[in-house]
Amino acid sequence: EKGEHKHFMAKEIFEQPTVSAYALGHYLNAERTAVRGEAADIPFDEADRAVLVACGTAHYACHVAKYWFERLARLPVEIDVASEFRYREPPLSRRDVAVFVSQSGETADTLAALRHARPQVRMAAAVVNVPESSIAREADLAMPILAGPEIGVASTKAFTNQLITLAAMAIAAGRRRGALDAEAEARLVGALSELPRLMAEALRRAPEIEAAAARIAQARDVLYLGRGPMYPLALEGALKLKEISYIHAEGYASGELKHGPIALVDPQTPTVVMAPRDALFDKTVSNMQEVMARGGRIVLITDAAGAEAAGEGAERVIRMPDCDPFVAPILYALPAQLLAYHAAALLGKDVDQPRNLAKSVTVE
Ligand code: F6R
Repeated sequence: EKGEHKHFMAKEIFEQPTVSAYALGHYLNAERTAVRGEAADIPFDEADRAVLVACGTAHYACHVAKYWFERLARLPVEIDVASEFRYREPPLSRRDVAVFVSQSGETADTLAALRHARPQVRMAAAVVNVPESSIAREADLAMPILAGPEIGVASTKAFTNQLITLAAMAIAAGRRRGALDAEAEARLVGALSELPRLMAEALRRAPEIEAAAARIAQARDVLYLGRGPMYPLALEGALKLKEISYIHAEGYASGELKHGPIALVDPQTPTVVMAPRDALFDKTVSNMQEVMARGGRIVLITDAAGAEAAGEGAERVIRMPDCDPFVAPILYALPAQLLAYHAAALLGKDVDQPRNLAKSVTVE
């Protein structure tokens, strides 16, 4: 039941501090120094490549994971949406590990992609929320995300638990491939284990986010920008907004702004910038200035140092707690979800059952 919340989506957003701890408990050792469980069982040391396949929000989780696998494990990663992957009939080999990510475990295109790839690859693993689903049954190895039932059509807590599971896999891959030592693993695992606390703190910013959502709700179009692993978060933020509020939104890599989308910027088109103060921050600030110079209004989601360095000129600044840059794409999902939720709720939309959408897409 929804309890104190008006919608299942809100309930599920606010469950993230709790259910993230379930995934962390499953994939991290008790001392919080190492990855354990199925995440550590995948032979990434015998692989030349990981192929990550999913649809929608689960695909964006794979897109974030690509940055992690490449950086932490020096493993080349290919990502694709399942509907493209299967019909492309991409060359696969015994030196590929394929990973299929699906909340429901029943998405027809993802299931078909698994069936296509499994006979050709070293291992076909599934990352699922429903352990008795078709995708879990047909994979060589099923990895639970332990988010509990997700009722709202817009995926929220499943996304962050998919990310935690994929992060654990990337760390384990780094260890198996000799790209990370035990100390580096312990640092990354320690950063992940902070998430329940950080998420609870991020959710305390809900009133500020609701105020920013009032502005978003008036717009016809919204741009989302992010760099590096925050780029897929921009895509996910835009997807969340369009699917439940029906406001047109686009996510872009910040550096792509001047290659086209900047033509859309005007005072009526808000730009949401998702940027913790990391190594790429200064570049994102110059992208923000380009938007502001054209009369564009900015909602900046950042941390204290980012607000200090770039807050001037942004119409709204949403301050996230300080975190290790490794976990920022997980933490920053929460304000993106809340922004979409509040915009849709303010517009009186049917948040849990948006028009034209089904929770599980079992036709191709
Ligand atoms: C977006 C959303 C969809 C699903 C997609 C895949 O909020 O819910 O984009 O992520 O349909 O569904 P699963 O993960 O069940 O395969």
